[in-house]
Amino acid sequence: MVPMKYRTLGRTGFEISEIGYGAWGIGGGQWQGGTDDESLRAVRRAIELGLNFIDTALAYGEGHSEQLVGRIVREAGKRIYVATKVPPKNQRWPAQRGVGIDQVFPYDYIMECTDTSLKNLGLDAIDVQQLHVWNPEWIGRDEWKRAFEELKKSGKVRAVGVSINDHDPDSALELVKTGLVDTVQVIYNVFDQSPERNLFPLTREMNVGVIARVPLDEGALTGTITEETEFPKGDFRAYYFRGDHRKQVVEHVNALKRDLGEVDGALPEIALRFCLSNPAVSTVIPGMRRVRNAEANMSLSDKGPLDAKTMGILRRHAWEKNFYGV
Ligand SMILES: NC(=O)c1ccc[n+]([C@@H]2O[C@H](COP(=O)([O-])OP(=O)(O)OC[C@H]3O[C@@H](n4cnc5c(N)ncnc54)[C@H](OP(=O)(O)O)[C@@H]3O)[C@@H](O)[C@H]2O)c1
Repeated sequence: MVPMKYRTLGRTGFEISEIGYGAWGIGGGQWQGGTDDESLRAVRRAIELGLNFIDTALAYGEGHSEQLVGRIVREAGKRIYVATKVPPKNQRWPAQRGVGIDQVFPYDYIMECTDTSLKNLGLDAIDVQQLHVWNPEWIGRDEWKRAFEELKKSGKVRAVGVSINDHDPDSALELVKTGLVDTVQVIYNVFDQSPERNLFPLTREMNVGVIARVPLDEGALTGTITEETEFPKGDFRAYYFRGDHRKQVVEHVNALKRDLGEVDGALPEIALRFCLSNPAVSTVIPGMRRVRNAEANMSLSDKGPLDAKTMGILRRHAWEKNFYGV
């Protein structure tokens, strides 16, 4: 079996697998077409193959993802690190400029959500508690600082972080500079390479861990989306790949595949290795509800960074878009 490599999650000191598990999909609800049984098998298989970091959230399936994750972690028989998130109280993703922290993350609400997550997980402590959105206008406010400090002091939480708004890595620069967060979670993939500009140099300087999310652009970078692909009604991807988005994806992916030509490896593998080729990244967290996808992704850690020629090709395929927005 190919060995997994581990990286240090910034100042937390946690030694985590460079391929982590994105547990949004296994919550169900916004991601349809999976079953708990298959999800559990996929996560367990990934753990067998060396994975020891899982990213979930209270909002994923309204606690269902956390409950599955907790079950797996409790029975794993080895140390598995769990990151979860406090959902915005106003249920608005991403955070809106002009909306105050009192409507999104009041102190008591952060504390209550953490207790609910601990209950869902069935664990004594959360390794990384994250705010699920961030608005830089809150930088001077006391609520989040007090809550983070109190959560750590009480032992309910070991480290704290923020999940940065979609395609807006620079909105967290001032936050990272405060030294009050241990980790950031950010969209980073072949299409959105923007964190490389300002965020990554700063996280390295501040020794802040980086959790690279949506590495396969919600499935676009698996190369399996066609103009005819349909997602069930209510599935988040029916919205993400709406209208002419599928056509745009097909054009971009075909151009990418053409340029990659004879480069060794399937597209999802190249897409994940792209993320890991940047030393600022602590872990990359693909969603993988299928055992076969978990096995494929676990097997690439040992292959190391992509060569300069392949990276040069991928650099040319950065694509500025925001399919999450209206
Ligand atoms: N605001 C936030 O904080 C936020 C937002 C979005 C995501 N996230 C986090 O980031 C994680 C990752 O993002 P995501 O799950 O939305 O999207 P993603 O990782 O970009 O893509 C997941 C999709 O790729 C498929 N896949 C995975 N490996 C594959 C392989 N080797 N070959 C073919 N297909 C493969 C999965 O299929 P199957 O599932 O069917 O196996 C799934 O459909 C989430 O699970 C969540 O933890 C956080």
